[in-house]
Amino acid sequence: MNPIKTVAVLTSGGDAPGMNAAVRAVVRTGIYNGLKMLGINKGYEGLLNGDIEEMNLRSVGDIIQRGGTILQTARSNEFNTKAGLEKAVSMAKVFGIDALVVIGGDGSFRGAKDLSELGMNVIGIPGTIDNDISCTDYTLGYDTAMNTVLDAIDKIRDTSYSHERCSVLEVMGRKAGWIAINCGIAGGAEAIILPEKEFDIDKDIIMPIVEGRNRGKKHYLVIVAEGVGGAVEIAEYIEAKTEITTRATILGYIQRGGTPTITDRVMGSRFGACAIKCLLEGRKNRIVAIRDNKLVDIDIIEALSMKKTIDNELITLSKILAL
Ligand code: F6P
Repeated sequence: MNPIKTVAVLTSGGDAPGMNAAVRAVVRTGIYNGLKMLGINKGYEGLLNGDIEEMNLRSVGDIIQRGGTILQTARSNEFNTKAGLEKAVSMAKVFGIDALVVIGGDGSFRGAKDLSELGMNVIGIPGTIDNDISCTDYTLGYDTAMNTVLDAIDKIRDTSYSHERCSVLEVMGRKAGWIAINCGIAGGAEAIILPEKEFDIDKDIIMPIVEGRNRGKKHYLVIVAEGVGGAVEIAEYIEAKTEITTRATILGYIQRGGTPTITDRVMGSRFGACAIKCLLEGRKNRIVAIRDNKLVDIDIIEALSMKKTIDNELITLSKILAL
């Protein structure tokens, strides 16, 4: 007999397209397997406030195509205190929660790990547009965000071409450059500036632009990751050094919203089902992940200690293709 009867799900941290697909899969797979399913609104804040309701098959109808998260999300200061954690555990007891599924990023998983140390059974599902969770090759929302960025690059390129300008585009990613490197390659950027690699503005930005101009290029694209920042200052520097009219665009929150792509819907569905499978098979305190195209689950402490870095091969490729 599996001791788990009631499972709650919450979304935490920044919203990401595909979170709804994961909520839907958690709820429906849970009910299919005879579990009672609860939805916690507004992340850990909702757990502290008892903002919790039972979910049925229909509660998650018509959501797979929606961006954001129907459960809403929040960043809770109270939860990050010892008293907050203890309150969260006692609230979980009040609602009879045997296991908690947390859909979010690294910060949310650290909160989940703290709860596990107080005896709760937690399962994490990677959800962030930044793709910066080390234990998994993919995080929900990353594909949708990259497609949004690429659409913006293509539009900006039209103007850059028409006016023979340089465009500097700052993209999200927190301290990671995953969105920047792949969108830079896909959008044909002359230079991609990543937080993972030190850069020299003259060597890494001005030189490729000037050399490109000498080879006949007439417009230019520079992608700057949010973790480096300073797109406006970089644009001013380029214009001063090269006399090419240069404009900065900071894409911001449009990268977080929008209809999830097929990848995010399918990955959300697979991650959600995998979370319930872990619980049914008696595995505790895990993060579900995809590695080398296989769904796996990893102990939460081990998962949080892992590191992943952007492959040098991608960086080299981006430079060759910018010729
Ligand atoms: O983690 C997703 C993300 O959009 C990051 O790319 C960005 O650094 C951060 O969230 C912004 O967070 P907030 O919306 O809380 O300001």
